[in-house]
Amino acid sequence: MTTMNESGADVFAARTAGVLKELETGGQLKRLQMIEGPMGPSIHLRGRGTVDCFCSNNYLGLANHPDVVEAGVEGQRRYGAGTASVRFICGTFEPHERLENRIADFLGVEAAYTFVSCWTASEAIFGTLCEPGDIIISDELNHACIIDGMRLATVIKKGLLKSVYRHSDMDHLREVLQKARANPEMTGVPWVVTDGVFSMEGDLGKLDELRAICDEFGAMLVVDDSHGTGVMGKTGRGTHEHFGLAGSQVDFFTGTLGKALGGGAGGYIAGSRNGIEMIIQRGRPTLFSNALPTTVACSASKAIEILQGDPGLVGKLRDNVAYVRKGIGEIGFEVIESPTAICPIIVGDTAKAIAMSNELLDMGVFVIGFGYPVVPEGTARLRVQVSAAHEHEHLDRLIGALAELKKKHG
Ligand SMILES: Cc1ncc(COP(=O)(O)O)c(C=O)c1O
Repeated sequence: MTTMNESGADVFAARTAGVLKELETGGQLKRLQMIEGPMGPSIHLRGRGTVDCFCSNNYLGLANHPDVVEAGVEGQRRYGAGTASVRFICGTFEPHERLENRIADFLGVEAAYTFVSCWTASEAIFGTLCEPGDIIISDELNHACIIDGMRLATVIKKGLLKSVYRHSDMDHLREVLQKARANPEMTGVPWVVTDGVFSMEGDLGKLDELRAICDEFGAMLVVDDSHGTGVMGKTGRGTHEHFGLAGSQVDFFTGTLGKALGGGAGGYIAGSRNGIEMIIQRGRPTLFSNALPTTVACSASKAIEILQGDPGLVGKLRDNVAYVRKGIGEIGFEVIESPTAICPIIVGDTAKAIAMSNELLDMGVFVIGFGYPVVPEGTARLRVQVSAAHEHEHLDRLIGALAELKKKHG
C-alpha cells in the first residue's frame, strides 16, 4: 500500500521497471519488428531485410491487392480522412451501408453493423443483447475479446450470468446448459459463444454439434469467426460453410476486417435485423465511439467483392495449408490436425518459443513465438500462419528452416 508521503509516480515507475526487467531477464520481452513496406508473403523488416512472413493474418493476400488499395485511396478522396462523428449523430456514410449489406449477404444473414475493431464488436454484443437472467456460456479457449466482452457485460447488466465449458467438450457444454436450465436465477436466454477457428490452437469450433445442442436447450449461438471468414468453406464464407450450415443457423456472428477481408481494420456483428437494430439503438460502443473510417470500409468492401468473384483464392489457400501441414509433420513436429490456416507448434517454455522464433528470423523466416499471457503458462508455441499469397518457394523455405530448427532442438 502506498503512504501519504510516497509519490504515486515513483511507485508506478519502480513497479513498471521491475516487471520489464523480469521479462527481459527471463527472455520473455517482446520486441516489435518494424516493417518497411506493405504486408505480403515476403516483407521488409528494419535491420533484417526481406523475410518470408508466416505470422500475419493476411490469409488471402488481399492486404496489398492493387484493387483493395485503390478502393481505399478512392474512398479517402471521395469521403475524406475520417468520419469525425459517431454513427447515429452524423457519422454514417454510404461506404458503411454498402459494406454492411455486403457482409450480411456474404455471411447469409439479414443485417450487419461495423465497428472500428472486432474487439469493440465483442464489447458491444453481450452488453447490449443480453439481459439480467440470461446466461452466457463460453468455450474456455475463446478469444480474449469474448472473455472481456462477457466480463464487461456482467458488470453493465447486474444479474446476467456467465459460465465456461471445457474446450470443445460437448458433453460438458450439455452439463452446463442443464445446470443453467435448473438454476432459478436463469430466467432468460442461454447464449453459447465459440470461436469458429480457435486462434491459438488452429482447431475448429464444432458448429454443427453446437447448433444441435443449442436447439435442444433453446439457446442462442454466437460465433466469432475472425480466423474462419475468408478461409473456411468452399467459397470462404466461414466455419459455418465448412460444416454445411447456412448463415442463418448461427444467431450472431462477430468478425474482423483485419484479417482475410483486406487486413485493414474493423469488425462487425451480423445476424437478425432486429438484433442489429438493438445494437444501433443501445450499444455503448455504437453510441459513444467513432465510426469505421470510410477508406477502410471501401477497401474491405472491395476485398469481399474480390473473394466473391474468385473462390479460387480460397482453393489456393487450402492447398498451401495442406502442403505446409504435411511438411511440418514430415519434419517430426507435432501440429494439431485441422484444415485451418493456423498451424501451432507447441514448444512449452515462453523463452524457448521466443528464442526459436529469433532463430527462424535469422534464417529469413518470420514465425512468431507466443507465450504467457497470450497462451497459458507452459504451452508456448510457434504459430505458423499460411496465406494464399505464398508460393511454393516461400513454403519450401519455411519447411527448410523448420527442419533446421528441429535438427538443432530435437
Ligand atoms: C478470434 C479473434 N477475434 C477477435 C479478434 C480481434 O479482432 P480485431 O483486431 O478486429 O479487434 C482477434 C484478433 O486477433 C481474434 O483472433
